[in-house]
Amino acid sequence: VKRLLERARRHPWVALGVTVAALAIGGLAVAASGILPLKASAGHWQVTSWLLHFTMRRSVSTHALMIDAPSLDDPALVAKGAAHYDLGCRPCHGTPRGDRPAVALAMLPEPPLLQSRIASWSAAELFYIVKHGVKFTGMPAWPAARRDDEVWSVVAFLRRLPELTDRDYLALARGQQETTLQFNSDEDVPGIVRDSCARCHGFDGAGRGLGAFPKIGGQRLGYLTRALHAYAEGRRHSGVMESVVAGIPAETLNRAAAFYAARRAGAAATAASGTDQARGRAIASMGIPARDIPACVECHGPSELPKLPAYPSLAGQHAQYLRLQLELFQQRSRGGSDFVHLMHAFVDRLTANDIRDVAAFFATLEPQSWKPVAADEPGADGFAVPRPDIGNHVDARIQGGGGGLSSR
Ligand code: HEC
Ligand code: HEC
Ligand code: HEC
Repeated sequence: VKRLLERARRHPWVALGVTVAALAIGGLAVAASGILPLKASAGHWQVTSWLLHFTMRRSVSTHALMIDAPSLDDPALVAKGAAHYDLGCRPCHGTPRGDRPAVALAMLPEPPLLQSRIASWSAAELFYIVKHGVKFTGMPAWPAARRDDEVWSVVAFLRRLPELTDRDYLALARGQQETTLQFNSDEDVPGIVRDSCARCHGFDGAGRGLGAFPKIGGQRLGYLTRALHAYAEGRRHSGVMESVVAGIPAETLNRAAAFYAARRAGAAATAASGTDQARGRAIASMGIPARDIPACVECHGPSELPKLPAYPSLAGQHAQYLRLQLELFQQRSRGGSDFVHLMHAFVDRLTANDIRDVAAFFATLEPQSWKPVAADEPGADGFAVPRPDIGNHVDARIQGGGGGLSSR
């Protein structure tokens, strides 16, 4: 020791090393002794609190430099973010008026009221916080790491939050109809539908008429149950739906699926401008043989032949939702049920124009123009999946239009 001290006097670097080592050993000894209080009730010293927030702000700013914000004005995007906020964020951050549950107020650090904070962050910084959460605080990361599009929907909503009254907020987050809509039927509405599903999908399953929420009313039962179980087991990726189904028993989800399968969801859309209906119809009914893309109707209908209940009907679905799902398939970010490989087999060969046109076309079909298969019919479950013939079975109902499709 004596020789070490002697050396330290001559070489300042050695002195520094010895001091650091001594402090580290001392610090470890204090931690090991267990005398440090980590109780949340004590709060942070002001200097600790300042240091933590300074570090967090610098970290977020630096990491957000590389992030480019997309356009965030789409009302459907804002509504999707609002609906998620109500379920996933409000329990900690409260409503615009500033009501926060007691549990949230007892957290350390306390989840801040966001209204007054939003202006101090850029869209990219908010994206970074909502996607990754904040370490050592209760602020969680986004549940589905591959769904940046959903994180942006929450950012789109957060940027509106400061100007919202509680009334605007409820309309946006739970749908205009919430207070007035009575379900006028003798039928029992499952509690889960009333408390959860209806605020986004509506009681009729039409998705509140917004492209943000898929139509699920009248969808095939086999598909609905498989989709819900895929979300619950993390095989289909959506931070919104994964938060909804987390901890809900399978039996309850099945009841919600059965309720929606028996509804009739809204009307078909009119043809959207800027899309080529004839091309969309041709892809749907014949595929694109030159690129080995199968006819969509083979699996999805509409068709005179009953379709397997694990294949979703696309007729009357929101075009915006169909486009998003096809893009997610291409990025391998959607996930899905055990049958999702059927889409992955060819989806990469669809161009952006193909996707735009075929999605717009399916949106204009009557929602229930497909033939449902009763649950007890053969083939309703445990079936083999045939490879569809490409182009030799064009359904009578959507025949006509769009021969000679080139590989545009
Ligand atoms: C379990 C409670 C909890 C949930 C749920 C939660 N947060 Fe947080 N959030 C926090 C806490 C605690 C902080 C404070 C972190 C800090 O002090 O640095 C925070 C911080 C934030 C901040 C930074 C605010 C600022 O200026 O420092 C934003 C933005 C935010 N949360 C948004 C959200 C959104 C959007 C959601 C829903 C997707 C959400 N939070 C869900 C607890 C929560
Ligand atoms: C907070 C809003 C919200 C709530 C509440 C909600 N959903 Fe969803 N749901 C969505 C969104 C958004 C999607 C699209 C997710 C995606 O991109 O995969 C979706 C997708 C679905 C799908 C897949 C549809 C398809 O065509 O693949 C089903 C099935 C579904 N929801 C059923 C339900 C049921 C049943 C409930 C109630 C237990 C429910 N949802 C509650 C927003 C919600
Ligand atoms: C071989 C059968 C098959 C063919 C052909 C097929 N699909 Fe699919 N598609 C499926 C299956 C199965 C699913 C459901 C995957 C899951 O359960 O997650 C699906 C899902 C989809 C979805 C998502 C629906 C939703 O509600 O989330 C879209 C959009 C879609 N397909 C579009 C198309 C288009 C466009 C074509 C034609 C170019 C096509 N599909 C051809 C089997 C097929």
